[in-house]
Amino acid sequence: MTRKMRCGLGTGLVLVAVAGVIAIHHAGILQAAPPFGQSEDLAYASKLWQALEHNDLVGDHAIFAMPYTAGVHQKVLMMLGRKIEVDGHTGTVLVKKMYQGEDISVEKVINNPQRNLAIVAVMFQRQAGYDPDHHNWFYVRFDNEGKPTAPMGVPFAGRVPKCISCHQAAPGNDFIYSFTR
Ligand code: HEC
Repeated sequence: MTRKMRCGLGTGLVLVAVAGVIAIHHAGILQAAPPFGQSEDLAYASKLWQALEHNDLVGDHAIFAMPYTAGVHQKVLMMLGRKIEVDGHTGTVLVKKMYQGEDISVEKVINNPQRNLAIVAVMFQRQAGYDPDHHNWFYVRFDNEGKPTAPMGVPFAGRVPKCISCHQAAPGNDFIYSFTR
């Protein structure tokens, strides 16, 4: 009887030890996870895309702004900005639509805004505390159907270092290049 109990206790201790190792290992993975492209970022990106549709910033009935050519490659841009509500928080959203394709031109975009729309780059200013060192912007690089793209493997949605590092250099220290607020 005593022997059996001791044996049981021993197994229990081993189990606790194994659980500890798994927990430490798991914490290690969490620590190493990038601050973007995680399931909560993708869930938020999906809500953001719905809000963009709801506010006619994307989709067939989207508000139209004057497109313009950007220097590099064959690329036409269109920029939109306003305040929208996402998940109970109202904040500024900035939308940069990027039209690509060999023969892309401003005329083509005007004639058919949905065609050749390649990328919808979005910045949404979330609540204070989301990313206090970088003005709380949430970044997403959507394809034309609202799916975050993953040019480097991890979906670009959230506190994306690549977006932040370049926008940090924008004049006015507000992370915004083309709008003055
Ligand atoms: C290499 C620098 C650079 C990187 C990296 C970059 N941007 Fe930008 N972004 C710009 C510049 C410059 C503009 C101004 C318009 C233009 O010339 O394209 C801009 C404009 C924008 C705008 C319109 C608001 C504004 O600031 O003018 C949005 C939205 C945007 N970028 C989102 C993103 C997202 C999302 C990412 C990451 C996936 C990203 N950007 C990565 C340089 C960058």
